[in-house]
Amino acid sequence: MKVVVNARNGARDFECEPGEKILHAGLRSGVELPYECATGTCGTCKARLLSGRAESQWSEAPGRRYFKSEADLLLCQSVARADCALEVGGMLKPREPGATAPRALGGVVRACRRLTHDVVAVDLDIDEPLDFDAGQFALVSVPGIAGARAYSMVNFDRRAERLSFVVKKKPGGAVSNWLFGDGVNGISLGLVAPLGHATFHPDVRKHVLCIAGGSGVAGMMSILSLACQAGHFASWDGHVFFGVRTARDAFFFDELDAFRARYPARLSVTVALSDEDVPASLAGAYPEFAFARGFVHAVAGERMAGRFADVRAYVAGPPPMVDASLRLLLREARLPPADIRYDKFS
Ligand SMILES: Cc1cc2nc3c(=O)[nH]c(=O)nc-3n(C[C@H](O)[C@H](O)[C@H](O)COP(=O)(O)OP(=O)(O)OC[C@H]3O[C@@H](n4cnc5c(N)ncnc54)[C@H](O)[C@@H]3O)c2cc1C
Ligand code: FES
Repeated sequence: MKVVVNARNGARDFECEPGEKILHAGLRSGVELPYECATGTCGTCKARLLSGRAESQWSEAPGRRYFKSEADLLLCQSVARADCALEVGGMLKPREPGATAPRALGGVVRACRRLTHDVVAVDLDIDEPLDFDAGQFALVSVPGIAGARAYSMVNFDRRAERLSFVVKKKPGGAVSNWLFGDGVNGISLGLVAPLGHATFHPDVRKHVLCIAGGSGVAGMMSILSLACQAGHFASWDGHVFFGVRTARDAFFFDELDAFRARYPARLSVTVALSDEDVPASLAGAYPEFAFARGFVHAVAGERMAGRFADVRAYVAGPPPMVDASLRLLLREARLPPADIRYDKFS
């Protein structure tokens, strides 16, 4: 099926495979359609059907709350059933230089280990090597569970054959609870990757600020991995703020400390505990970390005051934490939007 997308800066067309989401087909063909979550919640991929026939695969998608017409659809949840003409609100931007177009892949669960009472680390072997940018995510589909879930890659490798993720258990959540069950190893999953704009590139000569809540630290690990590989912190500062509720929710501290130890003069890690005072045992176990009680965005705001010049910020985690961080970065830090990269784990 041929799809034509009209935008304020012109029209582009591409072919959709049967059953392929319009968003995936466009991105695969090099047309940078608007999107953020790629999972039906944010509404960024809203488009209007001008002609033809398209079908939504998820009629209750929360992103539909932004619809203004019967003809509106979400590109990330819709498939074309005939040749279509569509209109999107904004401009079609050029793809970031060097970015890999997403494609469909297969993956097999190879290792699944608990990091905390409600966070699991999962490795997937993929059926062909994949290049991705640090900070990107994959859409993961589990057999028998409707819809795809977005998970940020933790690792950073060129031509990666294994993708690593961390997943937080959501009460009643279908995929996250499935990952906590038995018999997950060896199961084949569907993937679409790589996706996402919250990417770090070492050729951007700026200080790095990471603000992560819970499993939002996933993409930060990938960013730190590339930044350390590229020697970025030899010339630029890195400020990592990692928020968890209590000491019981802590994970990846050893890995973060290993990154910090490679650039002790310029890379700092601050842990914010929102729901309890910092236990002396935790602070004692990581003497080079800074610790504070409070919400991670508030702790980052206090400790970064006066230090926002030449900073590019990366934010990921639960939507309220990301929204509070964005308010800090835009209103108080006055960072330009191009220097704020974020993923809301909605
Ligand atoms: C860009 C991005 C990156 C993310 N990275 C991570 C990460 O690294 N680690 C992490 O723990 N979480 C991450 N998340 C959140 C993650 O994608 C899931 O929302 C979370 O794991 C809960 O999934 P669940 O299946 O357990 O819960 P559920 O409540 O069953 O599902 C939650 C989400 O699945 C999708 N969904 C549900 N039903 C359908 C359906 N019928 N059709 C289509 N879609 C459906 C929707 O997006 C919904 O919000 C990320 C989210 C985004 C947007
Ligand atoms: S990108 Fe489609 S709803 Fe978020």
